Amino acid sequence: MLKEKIAALNAQLEAEVATVQNKEQLAAFWQAYLGKKGAYSLLMSELRNVSAEDRPMAGKVINEAKKWAEAQYQDLSDKIAQIELAAQNAREAVDITMPSTRRPAGRLHPITIVKDQMVDVFAGMGFEIYEGPEIEDDYHNFTSLNVPKNHPARDMQDTFYVADEILLRTHTSPGQIRVMEGKQPPIKVLVPGRVFRSDSDATHSPMFHQMEGLVVDKGITLCDLQGMLDKFVQAIFSGDVKTRLRPSFFPFTEPSVEVDVSCFECGGKGCPLCKGTGWIEVLGAGVVHRHVLENCGVDPDVYSGFAFGIGIERITMLKYGINNMGYLFENDVRFLKQFKD
Ligand code: DAH
Repeated sequence: MLKEKIAALNAQLEAEVATVQNKEQLAAFWQAYLGKKGAYSLLMSELRNVSAEDRPMAGKVINEAKKWAEAQYQDLSDKIAQIELAAQNAREAVDITMPSTRRPAGRLHPITIVKDQMVDVFAGMGFEIYEGPEIEDDYHNFTSLNVPKNHPARDMQDTFYVADEILLRTHTSPGQIRVMEGKQPPIKVLVPGRVFRSDSDATHSPMFHQMEGLVVDKGITLCDLQGMLDKFVQAIFSGDVKTRLRPSFFPFTEPSVEVDVSCFECGGKGCPLCKGTGWIEVLGAGVVHRHVLENCGVDPDVYSGFAFGIGIERITMLKYGINNMGYLFENDVRFLKQFKD
């Protein structure tokens, strides 16, 4: 009796196995056969109808049947898991031959491009890079650079003061002081960075960029300066330009010079860019004033040096023919897109 019942149940289960296709059907299958009220679980109640002496044997048969059913269920469950995984893989399949959506690549800002080029040129000559603080004290920005207390450069109109004696540096020259305070010559350093002045028109911006250069050692002269600057302008503008030095004045250099580059547009014949003169002013420089060396504990009777200060915006505008400094700060993508490093 019991055996026939089990045989029928097994046959029924085997037939149903073939119909189970997904997780939901698998769960229902489990409920029907192996759940609390499942067919195999209910078999145990049949024991009541079995005589006491046959009962252990019948219990064993039922247990075996249940184990068999569980094994069937396990196989089925593995099969369904595989089917579901295959379906998921099919759903999530990626066609690697499809063209991708490209993100537009950003570019370097023209100021950064030119700054990097400038650093490259001087690094090739053995210069180190130093970056000083943008918030400076009066001493480093002015006094130590031999700028007297009543000098117009200290005027509130030019300088942004943060507090008494504390200001936004108006040039990168305080970097010279900080480097010399920190070490004795030989010194060969470049100080690129942002500077600030209360000034704004087509060729001035309240924030702009400079690059300071400082070389201090025994026997350094203006000739060394000009040699390096020739290499610099040739790398930035064109291989056949040269520089000329004109006398000028800066409190921190003596003598001081204004450096012109021969016009890379017309070759020196005279054109609108050089205003017919054949020369374009590019930077200020000079022999480091002995007071400045003394202020930093460098002996001016042993060492000498030169310094220069380059406006990065100015070089950028000249190099690319940009006539309004505003373009460099408005960050109009149509403008910025035109520059490639
Ligand atoms: N600091 C000057 C300025 O901002 C530029 C300058 C001129 C720097 C001559 C120098 C120098 O080192 O020697 O206008």
